[in-house]
Amino acid sequence: MAAALPIAPIAPVVGGDLAVPLLGGSEARQVNLDHAASTPALEAVWRAVAEFLPWYASVHRGDGYPSRLSTARYEQARQSVRRFLGATSDHVVLFTRNTTDAVNLLARSCPPGTTVLTTAAEHHANLLPWRRYATVVELPAPTSRAALLSSYRQALAESRGSGPVLVATTGASNVTGEVWPIGELAELAHRAGARIFVDAAQLAPHRPIDSSALGLDWVALSGHKLYAPFGSGALVGSSAWLEAADPYLQGGGAVRRVGATGAELHGLPARHEAGSPNVVGAVALASACDTLGSLGMDGVAAHDRELAGSLHDVLGSVPGLTTYRLWPDAGDVMALATFNLAGHPPAELAAVLSAEHGIAVRSGSFCAHRLLEHLVPDGAPAAPGCERTLPGAVRASLGVSSSGDDLGRLGRALRTVAAGGTRGRYRQAADGSFLPERDDRSWPAGWPGAPFATVGA
Ligand SMILES: Cc1ncc(COP(=O)(O)O)c(C=O)c1O
Repeated sequence: MAAALPIAPIAPVVGGDLAVPLLGGSEARQVNLDHAASTPALEAVWRAVAEFLPWYASVHRGDGYPSRLSTARYEQARQSVRRFLGATSDHVVLFTRNTTDAVNLLARSCPPGTTVLTTAAEHHANLLPWRRYATVVELPAPTSRAALLSSYRQALAESRGSGPVLVATTGASNVTGEVWPIGELAELAHRAGARIFVDAAQLAPHRPIDSSALGLDWVALSGHKLYAPFGSGALVGSSAWLEAADPYLQGGGAVRRVGATGAELHGLPARHEAGSPNVVGAVALASACDTLGSLGMDGVAAHDRELAGSLHDVLGSVPGLTTYRLWPDAGDVMALATFNLAGHPPAELAAVLSAEHGIAVRSGSFCAHRLLEHLVPDGAPAAPGCERTLPGAVRASLGVSSSGDDLGRLGRALRTVAAGGTRGRYRQAADGSFLPERDDRSWPAGWPGAPFATVGA
């Protein structure tokens, strides 16, 4: 049986020692295994936001001292993001709401006739926007690193001469954790005269990215997955396509002069940042980039690899548990795993882990329906007597504040559930999630609203 390894957290986060209520009236330190959805804020990020807030004022719109300062902080934040991603000085940093927003912005900027090459393993954010604005060639979910490279090689050869071509790839799978060979994909793309966009929503918090050394044309990330949950993300890269594109947000800040019928637009970056910008989000994102940069992304990656090894050992110790992988021999896998436990619908297992063990995971299909159809073709396990559900699974994902102790707690909880040791009875709510039939957990004192929904009411 796998013992918890002595892996310590490497950076403190806000709420890292949160106590959550359990069924039956006790409490436990929460084990946060849901970093791939959203990370907590780094304490350093929270401090940077708290220090900035007294000076918070309008950006690019005021002459007061705080406005000048806020404008300067907003513009400096671009440098922090640029440095974190190793982008060159001629690459533009555009602040967006998140990765989804960044992909939509780039997708809308594709020149007419663009072909986008992507795979069925992508998050919906890196699939659906392209379908709207370009011709999409969806390659199969790769079953090996070599298969991934070879299907891109072939697709690039086939689309040569058809107009602008873009490889739109993730940096790492949000479902199975493999780190994608983005440097090699960039080389293949450029050799074929194509460009490459990397969805780094998952990669950026776990591995160093040197976009100029790798030759990436565009990279997108989300602050809320990078320990800066204040509503900011970024699209970083070449000004090609973007400088000519019509902004998809129209309004103040993006225009030099407005006439009776038309408007003269600013250049980049203002052209694509209409409206009052989210300077607090930008300050938070910059602080996360600076903090992780000083911690050293190589150290972050080393911690993550240790956690990944231990996570897979722990999951391997649970009878009846199946872990899903795209290519099992991947050299580099993030500390993220997706699995099912025989006899337990994923949403029920996630509810049990939360209500009885204080462990937060995500269940479902992770905004990657095409990939889940490939990984779990027969649907998720069903409860006895129930029909099989849609493809789905449970995902555990770790971060800089995760520890070997967290993994020990996960292993003990899963083995208890596998052995039939579930304390409560669970029923499915209208939204598909599961809740204990009799839930005696309450919100923290003073929190408004009713606690958990009454299932089946
Ligand atoms: C790989 C990947 N890309 C894109 C996204 C979308 O990110 P956001 O919801 O921050 O826009 C996610 C979110 O889970 C993701 O995992």
